[in-house]
Order: sequence, then C-alpha cells, then structure tokens
Amino acid sequence: MKILVTGGAGYIGSHTVVELQNAGYDVVVVDNLSNSNPESLKRVAKITGKDVPFYEADILDRAKMNEILDKEKVDACIHFAGLKAVGESVAKPWEYYENNIAGTLTLVDVLRNHGVKNIIFSSSATVYGDPAFIPITEECPKGQCTNPYGWTKSMLEQILMDIQKADPEWNVILLRYFNPIGAHKSGTIGENPNGIPNNLMPYITQVAVGKRDHLTVFGNDYDTPDGTGVRDYIHVVDLAIGHVKALNKIKEKAGLKIYNLGTGVGYSVLDIIKNFEEASGVKIPYVIGERRSGDIATCYASAAKAKEELGWEAQYGIKEMCADSWNWQKNNPEGY
Ligand code: NAD
Ligand code: WQD
Repeated sequence: MKILVTGGAGYIGSHTVVELQNAGYDVVVVDNLSNSNPESLKRVAKITGKDVPFYEADILDRAKMNEILDKEKVDACIHFAGLKAVGESVAKPWEYYENNIAGTLTLVDVLRNHGVKNIIFSSSATVYGDPAFIPITEECPKGQCTNPYGWTKSMLEQILMDIQKADPEWNVILLRYFNPIGAHKSGTIGENPNGIPNNLMPYITQVAVGKRDHLTVFGNDYDTPDGTGVRDYIHVVDLAIGHVKALNKIKEKAGLKIYNLGTGVGYSVLDIIKNFEEASGVKIPYVIGERRSGDIATCYASAAKAKEELGWEAQYGIKEMCADSWNWQKNNPEGY
C-alpha cells in the first residue's frame, strides 16, 4: 500500500514516515518546506534504510498535486501539512485559513479526482476548547477555540465529516493529538522550531542547551495541584505508531472515525521541568510569569477508544519523552 504523506518533512510527519516504512508501507512525501528542512527526510532514510520519495510542492498548487498523483498511484493520504503556530494565527488569520482550509480542500479534491478516498487527518485536542469534562473522551462536545489555528482544525473536521457523509466511499479518520514531545531514539530527527519556540518542551530544551537563559512558566494560579497548567504529553513515536494503526481502519473501510491520541495522564509545567532535569542532569532556571492568553488549566485525554478500536496505546512514559527530547537537542543544538 502506498501512502501520500503531506507535511512529511515536519516534526510528526518525519517520525510517521519512519514507522510507516518500518511497517512495510511505501511512502511518498509532499511538503513545501515552509516549516521544515529536507535534511529530516535524509535522516529518515538513514534510520529505515529506505529511500523517501519526496516532492517539494504546496498542497494549494492543484496543477502540481495533479501531476504528482498522476504519477504516484497512492492508496491513502496522511495529511499533516498545515501551519500550526497559535500566536501567529492570531496575527495572520487569512494566511492560516488559506493554507490550512483552502489547502485541504484542494488536496481532497485532487485525491478524489484520482479515486483516492482515504484520509487520516491531523486534528488536535484544541477542538475541545476549554473541555466540558476531564478526562476528555471523543464524545466531549467540541468547544470554542481561542485562535484561528484551532478553528482551522475544528472547521476541517466538520468539512471532512460532511464530505464523508455525502460520499460514504470516503474513509476519514480524524486523529486528535494531545501534546506531542520527544524524538526518535537515534537522536537524529526531532522538533526544529523556527525562532522562539511557542511550545513548552522545545523552549525547555533550548534553555538546557544554552540558547535561552530561562523559561517563563505561564501562570501558577490555575486550579491544578501545583497551580501550573496540566497537559497530556505524548511521545512523538507513539503518536506516529497511532497513524500506522489507524491505517487498519482505512483497510476495514470504517467510514468516519475519531480518536484521541494521548496517554490519559496529565503533567503540570513544574512536573515537566522536574522530569526534564532528572532525565538530562541539566538545571532549568525558570520564573513565574503571567498566564498566557487563551490557555486552559487542564487538558488530558481518555485514551480508551483508541486502545479498544485501534489496539493502540502509548508505550513511552514522561522520562523517555524528556530523555529523547534532550538527546535530539543536545546532538543538534542548531536543529537540522
Ligand atoms: P510541522 O510544522 O513540523 O509540520 C507540518 C509540515 O507541513 C511542515 O513540514 C510544513 O513545511 C508543511 N506544510 C505547511 N503548509 C504546507 C502546504 N501548504 N503545502 C505543503 N506542505 C505544507 O508541524 P507538526 O508538529 O509536525 O504538525 C503536523 C500536523 O499536526 C499539523 O497539521 C499540526 O497542526 C498538527 N498538530 C500538531 C500538534 C503539535 O503540537 N505539534 C498538535 C496537534 C496537531
Ligand atoms: C503547554 C503548557 C503553557 C510555554 C499547543 C496548542 C495546541 C496543540 C499543542 C497543535 C501550558 C505552558 C508553555 C512556555 C509555559 N498544537 N508553557 N511556558 O498550549 O497545551 O498546546 O500545542 O494543535 O493547539 O495550543 O502546549 O506546549 O504551548 O504549553 O509555561 O514557555 O506549558 O502555559 O500550560 P498547549 P504548549
């Protein structure tokens, strides 16, 4: 089976290509490199010992996407391509709606015109907004997003559901990721943010490697055990394997399916600092700052549905997530 992986040069995409190739799938990557470096795919090839066919293309470029799909007979698409910086999306909503929504609409149209009606979509726990209950099951109602990025995920879920409803030949799997961190054990691929990291773990690793002098903890007056925000961090390799498992639902022609990909365990910001310090042996200086606008107190998944229906469960705990994030950053202080 041949899988088109959009955004395959990025953080989650590159780890997923490793797991797809290891599981025996053929892979074709499309990425416009707007937030990635083709070196990631060279390193994937070193890990798996297999070439990674790659097209530098934008999913908005219908002519080029048509050409690629005329040539490559793919059976399904795992769709990672998208812009994902929450703060930037507030400043540039048009760019986010254009890239993520118009891009996906073009992609889906090109796919169906080539008889490919199988898609796994990278959604996010952000669609739950401030969740109605915890742990968050897939039945938890979707909420109000606090930024355009989140709305693109929420709207794209609705768009893909409507397309599947109108044409039941489509198999659509929506995977709602919680907070991916960590890196491949080899330490050769990992998260490589441009500029100042938005997310907690890359910020911590950049402090650890000496690129930034301290972390600011965004608020310690939340209604959580230590007052700092609680999240469901998940090892990126576990997340990648979740996609391989989800392909089985495509093969079963399961129609529309929605799964949370999380561990079911919540850790606070201070828990993460402590675990990272233990795993790396490096002290992380931090100060307590103001709450970040749009943040919620607590967000963690019920991972029961993915376990029951996909036979998938996260294998790595917080110690490995921290150790592997550190291993990547320490070996690649300047990224790729
Ligand atoms: P990433 O930025 O590392 O990867 C996304 C890739 O898509 C990049 O390589 C980028 O160059 C490419 N891309 C963007 N727009 C494109 C376009 N128009 N055409 C072709 N390629 C394009 O991000 P990631 O962390 O690997 O995230 C992958 C997906 O998962 C994204 O859709 C993201 O929104 C989603 N997601 C990420 C997280 C997270 O915390 N990392 C959480 C939930 C969901
Ligand atoms: C985690 C915790 C912060 C940075 C975001 C997106 C979400 C999804 C995953 C894509 C929070 C705290 C952070 C820092 C801090 N992405 N923090 N100091 O906000 O849970 O989710 O990434 O879909 O849509 O919103 O992740 O890593 O930014 O923050 O104290 O410098 O760390 O307040 O409690 P978040 P995060």
